[in-house]
Amino acid sequence: MHRSYLFVPADSDKKMAKARALAPDAVIYDLEDAVAQDARPEARLRVAEFLSQDRSGVSTAQFVRINPMDSEDADKDLGAVMSGAPDGIVLPKAHAPDDIAALSARLDALEAQHGVTPGATCILPVATETPRALFTLGAYATVSERLAGLTWGAEDLGAAVGATSKAGDNEEWSDPFKLARSLCLFAAAAAETEAVDTLYADFRDQAGLKASAERARRDGFTGKLAIHPGQVDVINAAFSPSEAEIDQARAIIDLFERNPGVGALSLEGRMVDMPHLIQARKIIALARGR
Ligand code: COA
Ligand code: MG
Repeated sequence: MHRSYLFVPADSDKKMAKARALAPDAVIYDLEDAVAQDARPEARLRVAEFLSQDRSGVSTAQFVRINPMDSEDADKDLGAVMSGAPDGIVLPKAHAPDDIAALSARLDALEAQHGVTPGATCILPVATETPRALFTLGAYATVSERLAGLTWGAEDLGAAVGATSKAGDNEEWSDPFKLARSLCLFAAAAAETEAVDTLYADFRDQAGLKASAERARRDGFTGKLAIHPGQVDVINAAFSPSEAEIDQARAIIDLFERNPGVGALSLEGRMVDMPHLIQARKIIALARGR
């Protein structure tokens, strides 16, 4: 479980080195939109080199965003970076869970070729970037044991429908994008995987980011994408349960353990039942994932 995923353009050695030192929970070396087509061959080699550096004692998970499965670049990206055994692949513009199955099959072969533990490379799809994808989100539940989570993106979706703005009246998102965000959250829950909120583009606006991350955490997301070093601490804080929340969760779990077979109980004058127990377990899992 990762709270912060920091995107780094893979054509920038300086930013890649900086991202490493910053230690977000996860880093995503980007070979897609942040890197121009002509710069990709060199960027692929740089990512492979970064991945092959000594990772002992490095707690930051190393992801690579490859190009979409229906592009010629996807296979070139994978061919170059799998020798470095990344922890995960971020797949943009996934149209449907079939794309995950196809990627998973490619990973099976490349893991074997490079002596990587079979199944060790996980997949984080950006699951809402095409309109068609929104109608297939329910099927991620059946797709692959490699799924690390689901995340969502608004940029490409907005362009696809011709939206002139993605913001609502005094709100971060207008209705169509709120729908995509919510569907990502529910699809992740249906697939029993993590829901990762999309990035907050205005990276100088720390208060706005904090509010956005806290809303996401309240709704059930367990992490958020980042694009700038200054966003990492804010995101990590928002997705870390407070001591009070952890104490409350422990109290609920203890209460159920002391009363086996009982469905509804009373804690400090309030009714607690199965959904509270499930939520309490999620908070403890989130706290442990730190
Ligand atoms: N990862 C690591 N380091 C980063 C970084 C990132 N994502 N973004 C900025 N930095 C570094 C800069 O190189 C700079 O380093 P320095 O102080 O040693 O010179 C420092 O952090 C401060 O950066 P700043 O000047 O505030 O921003 P910028 O104008 O250099 O860069 C962006 C702004 C948006 C271009 C940059 O943040 C970026 O590349 N973000 C990621 C973009 C991306 O990957 N997009 C794809 C997903 S949508
Ligand atoms: Mg994009």
